[in-house]
Amino acid sequence: MSFSAPFAHPGLHHDPQWYRRAVFYEVMVRGFADSDGDGVGDLPGLIAKLDYLEWLGVDALWLPPFYSSPLLDGGYDVADYRSVLPDFGTLDDFQELVTQAHQRNMRVVIDLVLNHTSSEHEWFQMSRSDPNGPYGDYYVWSDTDEIRQNIRIIFTDTEQSNWAFDAERRQFYFHRFFSHQPDLNYGNPAVHQEMFDVARYWLDMGVDGFRLDAVPYLYESDEGTGESEPETHDFIRAMRAMMDKEYPGRALIAEANQWPREVAAYFGTEDDPECHMAFDFPVMPRIFYALRSQDTSSLKEVLSEQTEILPGTSWAVFLRNHDELTLEMVTDEERQALYGWYAYDPRMRVNVGIRRRLAPLLDNSRHELELVHAILLSLAGSPFLYYGDEIGMGDNIWLNDRDSSRTPMQWTPDRNAGFSASDPGKLFLPVVQSLVYHYSAVNVETELAQPRSLLHFVRKIVHLRKAHPVFAVGDLMVCPTDNGSVLAYVRQTTQENCQPGERPETILCVFSFAHYPTTANVTLPDQVVADRVTDLFGGATFPSAVDGKITLTLGTQGFYWLSLS
Ligand code: NOJ
Repeated sequence: MSFSAPFAHPGLHHDPQWYRRAVFYEVMVRGFADSDGDGVGDLPGLIAKLDYLEWLGVDALWLPPFYSSPLLDGGYDVADYRSVLPDFGTLDDFQELVTQAHQRNMRVVIDLVLNHTSSEHEWFQMSRSDPNGPYGDYYVWSDTDEIRQNIRIIFTDTEQSNWAFDAERRQFYFHRFFSHQPDLNYGNPAVHQEMFDVARYWLDMGVDGFRLDAVPYLYESDEGTGESEPETHDFIRAMRAMMDKEYPGRALIAEANQWPREVAAYFGTEDDPECHMAFDFPVMPRIFYALRSQDTSSLKEVLSEQTEILPGTSWAVFLRNHDELTLEMVTDEERQALYGWYAYDPRMRVNVGIRRRLAPLLDNSRHELELVHAILLSLAGSPFLYYGDEIGMGDNIWLNDRDSSRTPMQWTPDRNAGFSASDPGKLFLPVVQSLVYHYSAVNVETELAQPRSLLHFVRKIVHLRKAHPVFAVGDLMVCPTDNGSVLAYVRQTTQENCQPGERPETILCVFSFAHYPTTANVTLPDQVVADRVTDLFGGATFPSAVDGKITLTLGTQGFYWLSLS
């Protein structure tokens, strides 16, 4: 498999708002490619696959934590913020990754785990053994676990309380996630300084931004819910100001699993900006809801609510990631329905969500896989792909927790799916060998050899999106349709949001969630002209609009991206 030939490496292009136009790819170092045959993916392995990612059309990588860690929470239990876990490589390897990615005009975003550390972190070890020492106040200690009971528990399957007793210090410590992840005390200015220095350390190595893990939870108070307390926003503003001053052009991405209005607060204001991007949690489960209910009303409602965000900011949209498909941002009724459709086996559930990959969720339906990619890549915001979903990888619900969808990337039909040369028993997690998703059929090499494979489709649609900057920076206007199963929106740029050399564009995107062929009348917004309607994929001309309406016929779960002029 060679991907390198056609590319002359372009080097890093200057664009202070690069994150708005980027197609992101989340890659877990541990699961992508193992260069030294120890059964664990590593940074040199990832570097060797950059040509593949460039071929796919990826503009930016998001790497979940690769730092020293006991790996009890996929690396989100950081034991040392300044080192690479030896299994994954060295700091030099990381530096090489950044260099080689930048040579390909590909950005590298990493996770900044601000809220908590591993209990193995030396700050915690010193905090518990020496309460009066310099680290005594780095964590949230209390003589009682009866305070702050209004703060919800997130890992409901494993934790009964947000407090755990430390036998050495003989006090309780607060933990928002697992009990081995004590929360840092943001009431202590020394903690701010530490985290600023950690950020500078990686920015000095050239990273292009941070995903701010679990950002709403930094501060908690006795009265509040411990989510998005005002001081948390103050801290993010200060972090942003530091970055703008010392490292302009780098981006902050908020991970805040909240309703649109609360999340929008993480963009800050024009005078006091916070994050450049924020993950969009409410849209994603509604796409899954519409697929089974054939009813797009809740999806339309949430899309209509979140079009107005601060200039220069962008949503981060996604279908799946390394976590469960979280169902916190839906109504109780929707959640019950989603569990019934997508998590009929109790092993498919974890916490408030579903621990399955994209292809199995969609019953491996090619119609549905194409439909959801066409939505993801045309929504307002920058799309985040999750490694392996481009080839329709399966999952393994017999593994623990979220490991079900973190198994090794499937490269070839050979031993260990070409992921590693190790003894199969040594792999950090087994490769998927289920009936439908066995690596002998689902792998990059095989799909490359099939021009109609999912991999080729995903690559094509990624490149098509990139050829039309309107998808990245245009406005989104939801259009009324007379068919409840059909979602339609217009994406539009004006001269103002075009870069030099770009022309304003208008694209109508129409998606049918109906399980059989159907038709719909789409009402266009007043300012949209549609005298000439052309399909972006094949170039065919469609009947033009009559009285501001377009009538379309759609095949089972079919969709159109139509250029209007
Ligand atoms: C969010 C991460 O995505 C998840 O994997 C992790 O378990 C929690 N934050 C705690 O760090």
